[in-house]
Amino acid sequence: MNTRASSAASFQMSRHQLPSALSDTYVISGCSRGIGLEFTRQLLHRSQGSVIGLSRQKNSPALNELKTTFGERIHFVEVDLENQDSIDAAGTAVAAITGQVKLLINTAGILGDSKTTPGPERTITQIDRDWLQKTLDVNLIGHVMMTKALTPLLKQKKKDTTDKADEASSGPSKIVNLSARVGSIGDNSLGGWYSYRMSKAGLNMFTKTCSIELKR
Ligand SMILES: NC(=O)c1ccc[n+]([C@@H]2O[C@H](COP(=O)([O-])OP(=O)(O)OC[C@H]3O[C@@H](n4cnc5c(N)ncnc54)[C@H](OP(=O)(O)O)[C@@H]3O)[C@@H](O)[C@H]2O)c1
Repeated sequence: MNTRASSAASFQMSRHQLPSALSDTYVISGCSRGIGLEFTRQLLHRSQGSVIGLSRQKNSPALNELKTTFGERIHFVEVDLENQDSIDAAGTAVAAITGQVKLLINTAGILGDSKTTPGPERTITQIDRDWLQKTLDVNLIGHVMMTKALTPLLKQKKKDTTDKADEASSGPSKIVNLSARVGSIGDNSLGGWYSYRMSKAGLNMFTKTCSIELKR
């Protein structure tokens, strides 16, 4: 590589790096595939921190590949968001790995395919109680309870620091909840998708309410 190409490459690298510290830990649910897997991959590539991936499975070709590449910077913890004992155990397992969570991304979610699952529903007559319950459990209640379990590990106040190297991780922890446009009440002009829309609308309210409490 010539000098110009080499400096362009290092610029690209630095431009995409996130402010981070070695001690930063990011927790991502739904890490096994889709958006959660990509968050996991990007955070490992673009930060110095570690990722704790939450999923019902600890093994898949994609997760094994990340483990091979990033070694001790990635941990996997099993969780079934439909099961409170599993959420409690996952909270304990995360606390055994780290004393502080810098970023929690609640990504896991289900929508269904209307073929093998009753949802997403087009009409009220298609609503199935068990599917509605499952969707609320995974997309809403699971995230609420997982966030509750990890709240003791979230830093709420900005730490006083004069150490520049420490500055990147001195801010308060952040929680990101993966909602969806269809969770907007104001934007709902098409109807349908009852279970999914309700679960995301509930998640939006949790996000808002939580943001008011945690910034106090
Ligand atoms: N894709 C889109 O276009 C889109 C658009 C708007 C919003 N979103 C939202 O973005 C998020 C990610 O979507 P995606 O398309 O990446 O989904 P995806 O590929 O279907 O992945 C879903 C993830 O959720 C996890 N999950 C499902 N049930 C679970 C349970 N009971 N306990 C724990 N984990 C569970 C799955 O893990 P395991 O099955 O391995 O346990 C998987 O990692 C979702 O919240 C979705 O609603 C997606």
